Amino acid sequence: MKVKKAIIPAAGLGTRVLPASKAVPKEMLNIVDKPAIQYIVEEAVAAGIEDILIITNRGKGAIEDHFDHAFELECGLRGNPAKEKILQQVEEVANLANVYFLRQKETKGLGHAILCGRSFIGDEPFAVLYGDDVIISEDPAIGQLCRACEKYGKGVVGVQEVTREQIKLYCSLDVTPLEGRAMNCHNIIEKPKDEEIMSLYAILGRVVLPPEVFPMLEEGVARITQGEFYLTETMSDLGRAGKLIAYDFEGVRYDMGNKLGIMKANCEVALKHPEIGAGFREYVKQLAASL
Ligand code: UTP
Repeated sequence: MKVKKAIIPAAGLGTRVLPASKAVPKEMLNIVDKPAIQYIVEEAVAAGIEDILIITNRGKGAIEDHFDHAFELECGLRGNPAKEKILQQVEEVANLANVYFLRQKETKGLGHAILCGRSFIGDEPFAVLYGDDVIISEDPAIGQLCRACEKYGKGVVGVQEVTREQIKLYCSLDVTPLEGRAMNCHNIIEKPKDEEIMSLYAILGRVVLPPEVFPMLEEGVARITQGEFYLTETMSDLGRAGKLIAYDFEGVRYDMGNKLGIMKANCEVALKHPEIGAGFREYVKQLAASL
């Protein structure tokens, strides 16, 4: 079945990038000239997904404004030949896709955020693009996962190999080869201890899930009395039931949820940017020589 809808959870507190994320949602922190969340919506659109639900919370209204028209600004730019290109870029954001918004009223974890999107999704497989993970790739990462979901008829988690130190901060997957970049995923352990590491494959911000996860999420969320309900737990249940594929996607992933990730993203994207790329390269060379 074709994947037509996506959820972008963007209701986290962003504590790792405070104080930057105090009044500005971390998903609105920029990479050169666009906020992180615009790259993510563009990725979904490039993969053929046009109905996108962004899960927000109090204080994240700037995300809604970004995907809306800005009439005063657009009127001010219109008619000025020197500003034509920028006007086009500003207008395009409002017309990118059918973007919907829903508030997660309590920060009860990623599993709960996805459950909030249940009635939007209905009874079909759907994509999840974490709001703080930007992936730059010719072939959109979520499109690679959608194709695997359509081919194997199972849930798909997007993975890449990370270091032993990093895996302890993410999750570790028990996988066996299937075909090409696809693997069978049998189990997932969140933030594994040394002796629990099953492979260096970790889930990096993209998954495609079947609608059968909703009752599982509901049950999981009902179980927690405090803290957060992790999506990993439900995906791990899918794996143990033989209903999950891990897909080693092509693309460079930037973690916009931490300070070093934000700097790497800005640096690497700036080097290739058509407007400032050449100037920035010169600057980086000079800077590097002085280090
Ligand atoms: P993270 O755990 O990386 O985001 O969640 P966070 O909670 O904002 O991070 P820190 O630790 O406080 O810095 C991964 C994704 O899930 C969303 C986040 O916005 C992020 O895109 N999320 C997380 C929600 O939408 N709701 C939640 O309750 C938790």
